[in-house]
Amino acid sequence: MSTPETATILRPAQEPIRRRVAQHRHYLMCRPTHFTVDYKINPWMDPATPTDTAKAVAQWQDLYDLYVKLGHEVELIEPLAGYPDMVYTANGGFTIGGRAYVPAFYYEQRRGESPAFAEWFRSHGYDTVLPAEINEGEGDFLLAGDVILAGTGFRSVGDSHREVQEVFGREVVTLTLVDPRFYHLDTALTVLDPVVEDGATAGIAYLPHAFDEASQRILAERFPDAILVADEDGAVFGLNSASDGLNVIISPRATGFEKQLRERGYNPIMVDLSELLLGGGGIKCCTLELRQA
Ligand code: ARG
Repeated sequence: MSTPETATILRPAQEPIRRRVAQHRHYLMCRPTHFTVDYKINPWMDPATPTDTAKAVAQWQDLYDLYVKLGHEVELIEPLAGYPDMVYTANGGFTIGGRAYVPAFYYEQRRGESPAFAEWFRSHGYDTVLPAEINEGEGDFLLAGDVILAGTGFRSVGDSHREVQEVFGREVVTLTLVDPRFYHLDTALTVLDPVVEDGATAGIAYLPHAFDEASQRILAERFPDAILVADEDGAVFGLNSASDGLNVIISPRATGFEKQLRERGYNPIMVDLSELLLGGGGIKCCTLELRQA
């Protein structure tokens, strides 16, 4: 474990000093060796636009190197030829307490990734649970404090929310996505505090317009202090970010979100994954949380 870095900041309007602490993270990533866009399963993908695999690998490497520099532990899964989306490991599962819930992809093109992720979890000692329901892992399930926030509308089906509740025995809050550009929960909402004290509310940021009205009400009620991100920052995948509780890795284009994070005492760090955005993925998509405890 690395020594936590801290930052303090005085907020305007005489709010108390916030002290953010970097928490050690454990992530699973997959090098985009086979990255390309040769099918279209989300509005960002256009098989007619050429991709540059070497550039994707170089940008991905910057993210990997940054995590290591921040003291996090990053594991790798072997990329499979013919599965260009495997780089988006957030869809490879959802883990809490050494248990891994395996994805069942909505689209045929990605289904072959599931057995590889299941095998990775098994061989690394996770209690590996195969799903009955369509779900795309941490793309649609985010742990916020004690609660699992669960997205639906485009990929993970509502029944997977019941299943994930049974698998982990935690409260699950269903959130319905309505804008096809934000087809996974992690494209519209980010958890800023990966670790909070028992019962405390985790800091989150989200793009209100990506959710239906009922879900917007639930979010406003449960997370009154959330950062509401502007449409222009959401539209450049600003919310597809990874946080250790202090350092928040975001797209360099999300300049408004960057400012909001600083005001709250977080330390935004910009990493450009423009090439991987051609597949409709960003920083968080390339990062799966491994929670062994
Ligand atoms: N092309 C991939 C898909 O449509 C991108 C996945 C992005 N992953 C994410 N966690 N949002 O499935």
